[in-house]
Amino acid sequence: MIAGPEDIAEAVDRLKRGQLVAFPTETVYGLGADALNAQAVRRVFEVKGRPANNPLIVHVSDPDMARPLVVNWPRQAEDLARAFWPGPLSILLPKAARVPSEVTAGGPEVALRCPDHPTALALIEAFGGPLVGPSANLSGHVSPTTASHVRESFSAEDVFVLDGGACTRGIESTVVALGGTPRVLRPGIISAGQIGEVLGCDVAPYAPVAPDGEAFARAPGQQTTHYAPRCPAWIVTPETIEPAARELSPAVLLAILDTRERPGVKVIRLPGEDLTYAAGLYRALREADAMSPRAILIEAPPGDTDIWRAIWDRLTRAARRFGG
Ligand code: TXA
Ligand code: MG
Repeated sequence: MIAGPEDIAEAVDRLKRGQLVAFPTETVYGLGADALNAQAVRRVFEVKGRPANNPLIVHVSDPDMARPLVVNWPRQAEDLARAFWPGPLSILLPKAARVPSEVTAGGPEVALRCPDHPTALALIEAFGGPLVGPSANLSGHVSPTTASHVRESFSAEDVFVLDGGACTRGIESTVVALGGTPRVLRPGIISAGQIGEVLGCDVAPYAPVAPDGEAFARAPGQQTTHYAPRCPAWIVTPETIEPAARELSPAVLLAILDTRERPGVKVIRLPGEDLTYAAGLYRALREADAMSPRAILIEAPPGDTDIWRAIWDRLTRAARRFGG
């Protein structure tokens, strides 16, 4: 599904006036504003309730739009853009002076990404410049993967929403810092290994806190309470699922393998395959939340691929382990 030309025209008009437009991407919906308009960028922080120290990703329609936003567009960036753009990879580089410091929360580097969604690309092209795009949720809450998720959080006056259907990837982009040993600051569908293959060097995989404590400082959005539903959420294992169900009912269980009905427990099924699980996770969390249970129980995913690890990263921010 893609937004129609009238909607794109209306969106561009609003962006030119410094207003906010939510747009679909392949990962989650973004809350768009003119990345070169400091006042519009400040409005994004205000409307999201986002802490001023958490920088925004800048969305471009191609590498040509990215180059003037950075001091220098290195070979590594070119290679990654060729391999993964449009796609779920945000590349961190020293910013050019024209990028307002609000965008980077005062920091020296800007994260750049070219989203793989026809509506996002059409919007950025029609606007003719880069757009900031944090996930279009209130700060700290679950990211939106449909247009109606966005409409639940923001008024129509504050945010014009382009509907591009459900996001196909479902978790946010991988963020990678270049220079020295490149390092993944936020895990996503694209892994450190895949990035390393393209660059022909080692890439440090995501570590919640680097040995030198630096990762936390470089990706300030990676605080622990994040992607959280309103109801308390618990990760359960085959050992803890029964006691959790007894103790915390009425509950909603996001189940992969153990889909048994239990008294006081509603079940939402999620697929056992990593990519499709990722695509459905936030929708399921929001559905569970909307049922206002006493608790949301999340069956611990069974797999150990890079994508499952990126999913675990989101789960451990949204939920605590029951009984442990
Ligand atoms: O998939 C995505 O990246 C989505 C879609 C809409 O493109 N956007 C997104 O944005 O997830 P947001 O703001 O929800 O998350 C951005 C993450 C945060 O953890 C932030 O701290 C980090 O990227 N980040 C952004 N700019 C940064 C910078 N200059 N330095 C370090 N970390 C940065
Ligand atoms: Mg976010």
